[in-house]
Order: sequence, then C-alpha cells, then structure tokens
Amino acid sequence: MKKLIIAIDGPSGAGKGTLARTLAARLGYLHVDTGAMYRSVAWKAAHDGLPLDDEDAIVAMAARAVLEQSGGVITIDGIDVTRAIRTPAADQAAAAVARLPRVREVLVARQRALGANGAVVMEGRDIGTVVFPDADMKIYLDASAEERARRRASDTAHTGVQNSLALVQSELVARDQTDSTRAVAPLTLATDAVYIDTTDMPIEVVVHHVLMLLTDKLLD
Ligand code: DC
Repeated sequence: MKKLIIAIDGPSGAGKGTLARTLAARLGYLHVDTGAMYRSVAWKAAHDGLPLDDEDAIVAMAARAVLEQSGGVITIDGIDVTRAIRTPAADQAAAAVARLPRVREVLVARQRALGANGAVVMEGRDIGTVVFPDADMKIYLDASAEERARRRASDTAHTGVQNSLALVQSELVARDQTDSTRAVAPLTLATDAVYIDTTDMPIEVVVHHVLMLLTDKLLD
C-alpha cells in the first residue's frame, strides 16, 4: 500500500488529535502532533528563563532541542512535559512562540523531515498549506466555538481548566483569532482540503468518513 502523507488542520477542539491518533493507529502510520512541538518549545523557553520575545534565543534553543513524541508521551531534551504543556498558561505561551517566524522555520523543517518518507498523519494549523502543500490528503476539521469549548473543558489531558465554560470559550476564540491572523502561516483552509464540520458528529463517524475518503488513495 502507498505510504501517504495525511495533513489535518483546524482550530483547537475540532477533534484533530483524536482523528490523527486513531487514523495513525489504524494505518500503522507515524502520528505527529505539531502543536505539541510549539508547546514544548514554549515550555522549555520558560524553563530556561528565555523571554518569549527573544526570538534569537528561542530559535537557538529550538534548533538544539531533542523533541520526541511516542505512545502519547511528549518529551523535550528528555524531560516529560506531557501534562505541563496542557495548561491555560501553556496555551498562551505556545501561541506566542508560534508567531515567531524563525521558530516556525526550525519546526517546519523538522516536521518535513519526520514526514519525508510518508506513512504519516500530521496535525496542526499549517500542515496542508505550508508544511506539506503536496500532501496526499488534506483534512480541515472544524466545529462550533461552543462545542469546541465544551470538548476542551472536558479534556482530562488539559489541566487547570475548571473555569466556567464561558471563560474557556472566550480564551479559545481569542487564541484562534491569534492563530488565524498572525503574519506567518496563519490557520487557513487549503483550497484542496476536505472540510468537515464535526459539531454534531461523533468521532467514530469522522474516522469512518476519512477512512472511506482514503480508500482509493491507499490503493493507488
Ligand atoms: O494544536 P495546539 O493547541 O496544541 O497548538 C498549540 C499552539 O501552536 C496554538 O497556538 C497553535 C500553534 N500551532 C501552529 O501555529 N502551527 C501548528 N502547525 C500547530 C500549532
């Protein structure tokens, strides 16, 4: 079977993680969560005392850092940051780091290397537009802001979100706004992406739908 590059983009809480993880497990592909890469670099910047506006220092650190994702465990330079990178403060810091053009260059180069041999499901904001514009399959997942906030608030991986649903939603919408309007690689729908609104769709239905879409491509 062909070793595809599958790009999954969309805003927070649209279901990208669950879809990407499930597809990768079904197909025996590598799953790359690029948001976790931005989050890990932001975590390490704070750990090392680097100000988030010191792009030179953060670029140098990101270029040296050993970033690993395996079995749901995220590490940077050997430190397990799986839980630490899923807090409201980490959300903010990651969005700030993701605005830095040269940090993006470093991480995009790593993402391309991870997907170079295909057989990869990569999720993020710019995978189908910037990282792999020639991906075999591009999916753009979306959902209403209410539903995305509800999912985020009930996500046990995300700690410190005992806040009201209204607050979770307003923070999520503000961050989406940052991600969609930044100068470099903003979140946009690739012209050749398949758009799926998951607001009223159980994740199993989304997975089934995408697997159907992939059938022909896998046999090419
Ligand atoms: O998907 P996430 O919430 O874990 O992403 C964390 C931050 O990184 C978020 O602000 C969006 C940003 N991001 C990005 O700019 N490009 C990507 N490919 C992935 C994430």
